Amino acid sequence: MSSGLGKQSRDSFGSKFGVVAAAAGSAVGLGNIWKFPYITGEFGGAAFLFVYLGFILAIGLPIMLSEFIVGRGARRNAFGSFKHLAPGTNWKLVGFLGVGAAFMIQSFYGVVAGWSMRYVELAVEDSFANRSASDIQTLFSSFIEDPVSPLYFQLAFMVLVGAIVIIGVQKGIEQFSKVLMPVLLLIIIYLDIKAVSLEGAKAGLEFLFKPDFSKLTGEGVLSALGHAFFSLSLGMGTLITYGSYIKKDNNLIRTAAQVTAADTIIALLAGVAIFPVVFAMGIEPSSGPGLVFITLPNVFHQIPGGYIFAILFFLLLVIAALTSSISILEVVVAYFSEELKIKRRVATILAVALTSVFGVMCSLSMGIYSDVKIFGYNFFDLLDHIASNILLPLGGMFIALFVGWYLKRNRVAAEINQGGSISDRLLSIFMILVKIVAPLAIGFVFVKGLL
Ligand code: PHE
Repeated sequence: MSSGLGKQSRDSFGSKFGVVAAAAGSAVGLGNIWKFPYITGEFGGAAFLFVYLGFILAIGLPIMLSEFIVGRGARRNAFGSFKHLAPGTNWKLVGFLGVGAAFMIQSFYGVVAGWSMRYVELAVEDSFANRSASDIQTLFSSFIEDPVSPLYFQLAFMVLVGAIVIIGVQKGIEQFSKVLMPVLLLIIIYLDIKAVSLEGAKAGLEFLFKPDFSKLTGEGVLSALGHAFFSLSLGMGTLITYGSYIKKDNNLIRTAAQVTAADTIIALLAGVAIFPVVFAMGIEPSSGPGLVFITLPNVFHQIPGGYIFAILFFLLLVIAALTSSISILEVVVAYFSEELKIKRRVATILAVALTSVFGVMCSLSMGIYSDVKIFGYNFFDLLDHIASNILLPLGGMFIALFVGWYLKRNRVAAEINQGGSISDRLLSIFMILVKIVAPLAIGFVFVKGLL
């Protein structure tokens, strides 16, 4: 499988920590801190969480390893990897799904990252002080419903992402993720401690951890699956592309396990910071996409150092969004530049411009166009639903099938065994998961959730 090596000169990540940091930088983002709590709230709490965790372990982790195997084996972006490893077949079409998903995700992701930027500004202005919970709620809704001001922030964010992608892999991604994510983690832990000591916190923790499986719906299970892919950055070739930068002496299993663990822990810690506040303040857990923005500001102005922590928290949220967004955009840019042979700089500008236009439509669908519904969704939710709940799981299913049935056991073992080792038993389990369990489970959840 290493036949493609050395033909192209590509950057690889400098240190082993660099790969984990960059892949974790991709995985940890708005998905963990903004999306996970709000969809957990919408789909009823703990039961949703448990299903989500099951999907992470049984489907997410093996598919992450699969993406690393494909990417490092082929040393190319998602599209090129399939062409290289399976020449003359239609497997390359899986790359298209990924480019489509990346395009849609980048569009609405920029909007939410823009909201986070606005919250940095609000925090600097000390706007949360002396406001009631309902004022804080209004602050959020009147901002996102405004037709103009969210756009400035969204576009500023998009330009920033584009600029970083133009600078390049090593400098752009690795340095950012390495230093700042641990700081974010510390702030969230501090918020956790404060949240669980609020009066009424217990109801929040029970909501998050005491499952009532009768609350589960087909749509909830589909969203849990979709979110497992979204949060781990799976199913659209991001981690194939990142995998292509991983050195041969790196242990793929360990890297996949570390990234999955980091991502899951941060989401759980975000949940613990948010749900006690939701219950203590009498906020609806199913308040939707504003949940993080309408809960945490209530906490900041009550805790020691809250002014500074509010600024830092939203700033680091923007940076977490940035490292993820870079990796989303990279899928589109790599496709434009390596497959369509458009110059990288031009490809980046084009990708940023196109996804910004879709992003503007997402932003407007929160306010003036909120009545325009397609299949019952506004434009923002529609892109999220199609990309996260359909394209990513579908892409992931094909990646699993590709590794299981096309590459097969020997090539898989050969790639994993460079830089690591896998026992026969573990390999057998992995092969069963990617050949049978993951594809069937995804198919089943589709049937239940979409029909
Ligand atoms: N995983 C990122 C997050 O949780 C989003 C993302 C999705 C990044 C798909 C890359 C690919 O915010």
